[in-house]
Amino acid sequence: MAKVLMVCLGNICRSPLAEGILKSKSFLSGMVVESAGTGNYHIGGPPDSRSIEIAKKNGLDISNQKARQFKTADFDEFDLIYAMDSSNYRNIVRKARNDLDTAKVHLILNELFPNEDLDVPDPYNGGEHGFKMVYDMLEQACEVIATKLS
Ligand code: 4NP
Repeated sequence: MAKVLMVCLGNICRSPLAEGILKSKSFLSGMVVESAGTGNYHIGGPPDSRSIEIAKKNGLDISNQKARQFKTADFDEFDLIYAMDSSNYRNIVRKARNDLDTAKVHLILNELFPNEDLDVPDPYNGGEHGFKMVYDMLEQACEVIATKLS
């Protein structure tokens, strides 16, 4: 049973969506899915209202999630750690203790576009459109992940 951690900066926009989307696809496989942020700005808070809204439009309720910060112990807890962008990736890998930890970390869009090292853009300072685009990217990437892990 795979344990998957989705990671962005604030854990309020992108990774809560990735958590909600992958969870919705994992009910048969028993996968465990959580999310975290590399930053500490929003610890304990709910997802951004725009993420809650775009999830709701797509039939998902992510409103009960609570932001938390990525920690070194997450390398022990999770099999796969997906970073939303290359900055998140670097910040996670900086905490790795060895090559096994590092090998667990992947850029999520490499599941869709292998080896292209593309970022899920940070929608925090943009409008609604950015959240829809992020949702659509994550939906496609999570479909690939769910198929691989099921
Ligand atoms: P996220 O977006 O990393 O997708 O959750 C952000 C949310 C908050 C901030 C930055 C990015 N912030 O600077 O507060």
